[in-house]
Amino acid sequence: MTCLFPIPAFFFLAIILQIAIQQSLAWGHFDPTKGFISLPFNRSYYHIQKPYDLPEDQRYSFINGVHKCWVYSADKPHSLTSRTPARTEIAIQGYNYSSGNWQFEGYGYIPYGTSGVCIMQIFGARPHATTLMLTVHNGTLSYYSSTVLVPYIYDEWFRLNVIHDVDASKVKVYINGTLKIEANGRGGTSHTFKCGVYAQNVSSYYMESCWKGIKILTRCD
Ligand SMILES: *[C@@H]1O[C@H](CO)[C@@H](O)[C@H](O)[C@H]1NC(C)=O
Ligand SMILES: *[C@@H]1O[C@H](CO)[C@@H](O)[C@H](O)[C@H]1NC(C)=O
Ligand SMILES: *[C@@H]1O[C@H](CO)[C@@H](O)[C@H](O)[C@H]1NC(C)=O
Ligand SMILES: *[C@@H]1O[C@H](CO)[C@@H](O)[C@H](O)[C@H]1NC(C)=O
Ligand SMILES: *[C@@H]1O[C@H](CO)[C@@H](O)[C@H](O)[C@H]1NC(C)=O
Repeated sequence: MTCLFPIPAFFFLAIILQIAIQQSLAWGHFDPTKGFISLPFNRSYYHIQKPYDLPEDQRYSFINGVHKCWVYSADKPHSLTSRTPARTEIAIQGYNYSSGNWQFEGYGYIPYGTSGVCIMQIFGARPHATTLMLTVHNGTLSYYSSTVLVPYIYDEWFRLNVIHDVDASKVKVYINGTLKIEANGRGGTSHTFKCGVYAQNVSSYYMESCWKGIKILTRCD
């Protein structure tokens, strides 16, 4: 009896190990957060930008760890004085940064039909407003509306890591642990990560993105 015990125990361990390996491979071999430390993140570090004339719960929910942002193309801007298109965005202004090496990590989900929209941005640049915009047009995820990063992104969770090395003026975007683009910084002295839905030129009537596991990280060296 005693000599039989190690065999099932070994198989049990092997199965657990295999599941762990499969799960880590599902989001990519490479972990872009290595060497970074994760900072506290809760409601104190972000606020929701949504059409100014609506209560927050008409355009944003946070249920079971999933942030859901949605907006209609005909919605009002986020403030009375703004002339920008409709948006519902998680604006992470508790970590405005101007130097060093910063990272946003989040698991994103864009439902079929959401189009003509910015889903994540690094706000703050000069003379431009933004250092980075990730957009979805007809299911294609792009850097601004130029470089295609993922040809078809609808209806699946993906792991997004955006690293902004301010001192080197470089931005890196990883999807599922794979580097998709390294772009130049665009100047500016204060930067903020944002994610959600922000209408661009030719938008679908309804826009939505969901986010979970949001982390803000910075390099310790
Ligand atoms: C990212 O990984 C998830 C989980 O394995 C998978 O469902 C999804 O299709 C992947 N997406 C891309 C663009 O690699
Ligand atoms: C958020 O986290 C900070 C730091 O851990 C803490 O001081 C603060 O009370 C938290 N705020 C909320 C709303 O949970
Ligand atoms: C962070 O930056 C945003 C956008 O520039 C600004 O509105 C906000 O007041 C800043 N927050 C802090 C704490 O500096
Ligand atoms: C998106 O798809 C629609 C309908 O299929 C088409 O009319 C439109 O030109 C496409 N837009 C882009 C940016 O590809
Ligand atoms: C939106 O349209 C304006 C004017 O037609 C153009 O200058 C701008 O580049 C467009 N932006 C995007 C993201 O396609």
